[in-house]
Amino acid sequence: MAREIVKPLWTLFSAIFLIYLVNGAAQPQVPCYFIFGDSLSDSGNNNGLFTVAKANFRPYGIDFPRGPTGRFSNGRNLVDAVAELLGLGSYIPPFATARGKEILKGVNYASGSAGIRNETGRQVTLYNFGARKIVLFGLGAIGSAPSEVAACGTKGSSCVAYINSAVQIFNGRLKSLVQELNSNLRNAKFIYIDYYGIGSSYALSRGSLITNVSCCGVKDGLNTCIPFQIPCRNRTRFMFWDGIHPTEATNVFIAARAYKAEFLTDAFPYDIHSLAQLS
Ligand SMILES: *[C@@H]1O[C@H](CO)[C@@H](O)[C@H](O)[C@H]1NC(C)=O
Ligand SMILES: *[C@@H]1O[C@H](CO)[C@@H](O)[C@H](O)[C@H]1NC(C)=O
Ligand SMILES: *[C@@H]1O[C@H](CO)[C@@H](O)[C@H](O)[C@H]1NC(C)=O
Repeated sequence: MAREIVKPLWTLFSAIFLIYLVNGAAQPQVPCYFIFGDSLSDSGNNNGLFTVAKANFRPYGIDFPRGPTGRFSNGRNLVDAVAELLGLGSYIPPFATARGKEILKGVNYASGSAGIRNETGRQVTLYNFGARKIVLFGLGAIGSAPSEVAACGTKGSSCVAYINSAVQIFNGRLKSLVQELNSNLRNAKFIYIDYYGIGSSYALSRGSLITNVSCCGVKDGLNTCIPFQIPCRNRTRFMFWDGIHPTEATNVFIAARAYKAEFLTDAFPYDIHSLAQLS
């Protein structure tokens, strides 16, 4: 039962949109960064909400300077790492607390457990509001997350593979959508990041990386950390922090490859760095 409640958490589409309005001359490579997504990008929007999708308690944030903030990780999440690479100087504030002039540099609207709604038509809406540089992150190998490995249980690898094949169908269509939007919307620059492929290559590149078990102890069925329980000591040895969310080390690795592609397949048609440079 409890599993059903949090299903949206990991079935979600983790999308991040980068919006470029004017050409800033200063150090930051873009003048602003607006973020839309789920718990993988949330930086505190759920703290005051009545929901089970919360991360504003220890051990979340154990490696984050400000401690638990509502980020679903031990430290920085993916969009924090992207903001650093873009030279933005500070993380994008969550919608829940963003005030005054700070919103001109961007707002993080990501909310844990968010879903895709039929009526949203999100990418086109953003375009209509003036967004021209938009990054879409594909889904990761959800079937291989500790929560799903545990849920698959004795059904094992065929169950994991079944979920991952659904993810790949979704990602293939998302990539096609990027191509379609680039041809149909004037001056639109959409890019697709192969989160699945980059994540898999992270798992393969670190021989001793533990990928099938989470670093923190997780609540049965919920897959978020058990509050105040001591997590694993060496977070960099783990791909996943809790049952569904990556550790900071994983996030930093994926952000680096999204920003500067190592393989042609990492980003389509080009990476975030190239996108930021375009006029
Ligand atoms: C969303 O759209 C699909 C396909 O048109 C439809 O089957 C489904 O009922 C819709 N869901 C909602 C919540 O409107
Ligand atoms: C995780 O992987 C290790 C090494 O392959 C294996 O020994 C262990 O049984 C797996 N644990 C779970 C919970 O699947
Ligand atoms: C933590 O794990 C990483 C990766 O396996 C390893 O390189 C490092 O030496 C470990 N650190 C400690 C303090 O054990």
